[in-house]
Amino acid sequence: MFLDNFFKPKKIGIDIGSEKIYFYLEDKGIVISDYTYIAVNTKNDSVFAIGKEAKEMSGRVPPYIKIVKPVLNGVIYDFEAMQALLSHYFKEIREKYNNLFGYEALVAISLDMTEVQKKSFEDILFAVGMKKVYSVPKVVAAAVASRCDVLESVGNMIVEYGASKLEIATISTGGIIYSKSLNIGGYDIDNSIVSQIKNNYSISIGELMAERLKKSLSSSDKEKEIIIKGRDVSTGMPKQISIRVADIVLATEKYIEIIADNIKLVLENIPTEILSDIYEKGIMLSGDSSRLFNYKKKLKSLVRLDMYVVDDPATSVIRGLGILIGKMDEYSLVINKIR
Ligand SMILES: Nc1ncnc2c1ncn2[C@@H]1O[C@H](COP(=O)(O)OP(=O)(O)OP(=O)(O)O)[C@@H](O)[C@H]1O
Ligand SMILES: [Mg+2]
Repeated sequence: MFLDNFFKPKKIGIDIGSEKIYFYLEDKGIVISDYTYIAVNTKNDSVFAIGKEAKEMSGRVPPYIKIVKPVLNGVIYDFEAMQALLSHYFKEIREKYNNLFGYEALVAISLDMTEVQKKSFEDILFAVGMKKVYSVPKVVAAAVASRCDVLESVGNMIVEYGASKLEIATISTGGIIYSKSLNIGGYDIDNSIVSQIKNNYSISIGELMAERLKKSLSSSDKEKEIIIKGRDVSTGMPKQISIRVADIVLATEKYIEIIADNIKLVLENIPTEILSDIYEKGIMLSGDSSRLFNYKKKLKSLVRLDMYVVDDPATSVIRGLGILIGKMDEYSLVINKIR
């Protein structure tokens, strides 16, 4: 029994978002948590920096260093960069955990990923040495991590809100009943904050600054003013000013309204039985953008259903994969074998 397990490939869960990348190794837990960024030196096509280090260089590198984010809107659009990124992390994992019998991957994928996109993803995973590849929708993995029994004949609704993708799904009896994927996320909030500040104060700030600002706020700050530093649009010179948090609230609310409208659309399209289950249980909010200071409250006031942000919403997909790799047979209804 012990030896049986020893000779088997290890299972590894992989969640690659546009902002963050996670690996969950069987029997070990989350072994990598990093930013999905890679800096390439175009002079000799070598990797210059990876992950957090590459993200923090953004805007501060010479022209021959290209910073690439290989994933956007739930799809990989730079395969070379993706392969370099995955090779790097697998090398790290192999060196640290020294497993002779290889790895089988369970990857979390977006609901609207096409067959062609899945095939390309799978090709990269085989190229970096995976023995087998399985997939599961990100929303299902996130729901599993949030103690939701996706195999039970009870309706559940989850809203997964990341950096460039939003997925709303209703799940029951091991399947997706009805869902909606939108190409919006935390990056749009950052851009919206940049525009709002530029329009109202003629100050230009960077997206990273907007993101920091967004993350620093809490729901009790709404009436406050905060000091920001940026560039005066008319003179081009640095300037420090005080801005109203209410302006940031405005920049975020238009996206929360879009999300509310789409949740209502999904609710309108599901069977009454599922609707009444969701009415009873409330809506799960997952993905790191669910921590946006005014998100839950505003969404609740628009949709008028109970909702709650799951524990540690950033890691729910990868923790769900961690549970699923230990119960692949039991969960075969929700897991697809790619090859
Ligand atoms: N406290 C916070 N308030 C608001 N937004 C936050 C907070 N913390 C993180 N975020 C945002 O969450 C987003 C990242 O979420 P997450 O890690 O779930 O994305 P991802 O899985 O990489 O992306 P995707 O699934 O869209 O490809 C970023 O846009 C980040 O700015
Ligand atoms: Mg994600």
